Amino acid sequence: MRFHVLTLFPQMILDGLNTSITGRAIQNGILSVDAVNIRDFAENKYMKVDDYPYGGGAGLVMQPGPVCSAYKSVTERIGKKPRVVYMTPQGYPFTQQMAQEFAQEEDLCILCGHYEGIDERALEKIVTDNVSIGDYVLTGGELPAMVMIDCISRLVPGVLNNDVSAEFESFHDNLLEYPQYTRPVVFMDKAVPDVLLTGHHKNIETWRRQKSIERTLERRPDLLKDAVLDKKEKKYLEELIRQKEEKETKKL
Ligand code: 6GU
Repeated sequence: MRFHVLTLFPQMILDGLNTSITGRAIQNGILSVDAVNIRDFAENKYMKVDDYPYGGGAGLVMQPGPVCSAYKSVTERIGKKPRVVYMTPQGYPFTQQMAQEFAQEEDLCILCGHYEGIDERALEKIVTDNVSIGDYVLTGGELPAMVMIDCISRLVPGVLNNDVSAEFESFHDNLLEYPQYTRPVVFMDKAVPDVLLTGHHKNIETWRRQKSIERTLERRPDLLKDAVLDKKEKKYLEELIRQKEEKETKKL
C-alpha cells in the first residue's frame, strides 16, 4: 500500500514512520510513504502558503493553490486520483472499521492542515473523507495522519509477522483485552494470578473472558451493548452489574 501525505512538515511524517514495524514494512517494500511538502508549491518568492482569513479572526489559513498543486503532483505521478483523507477535528471519528476500509486501497492520499485550517475551496475540490482522531485539540494533522497510517498499516498483509493476523486484539467480540503477565511469578509482592500457572487451558480461557468483561464494564461500558457473549458470560456480566449497583446504593 502506498501513502501520499501532503504536509508542511514532511520530515515529521518520515521520522515517525520509518521506525519500528512500519519502518520495517517500508524497508521490505510492503508499504511506501511519500511526504509531499506543500511549501514546495508556494506561489510567491517568499514561499508563503498561508494568509489572513477573510472576515477576520485569529490565526492564518492555508491558501488553496499550493494544496491543490501538491495534490496534482501526486495524481500526475501515480496516474490516478486516490481518495484524499483530510485530518481535521471537524471530521468523522476514526474507527477500526474505517481503517479496514482504507486498508483495501492501493493508494491513499492524506492531507494535513496547520494553523486555523485550509481554505474551504481546496477541500471541496480534492477531499473525499474528513477524519478526526478524537475529541481533543492538536496543533496540526501530522500526528493524526501518523496514527491513522499506523492503524491501517497493521491490517495490510505482511506488515505484522505474527501468524494469528492480530486484526482486532483490543476489540474482538467488542470487549477490551484481558491483562497479561510474564516472569517473574512474584514482582514487588504481587503474584501472577494462580490460574495462569495451572496449564488448564479451559479455566484460563474462562478467566481471561471474565477479566475482559470486568474491564469493559469498568472502562468502556458503551462497548457492551454489541459484545458477543455466551449464556454464562451474560450471567457473569449481569452479576457484575448487580454488584456494582449494590455498591452504589450503599454509598447513597
Ligand atoms: Cl485529525 N487534526 C487536528 N489538528 N486536531 C485533531 C485531530 C485532527 N483529531 C483530533 N484533534
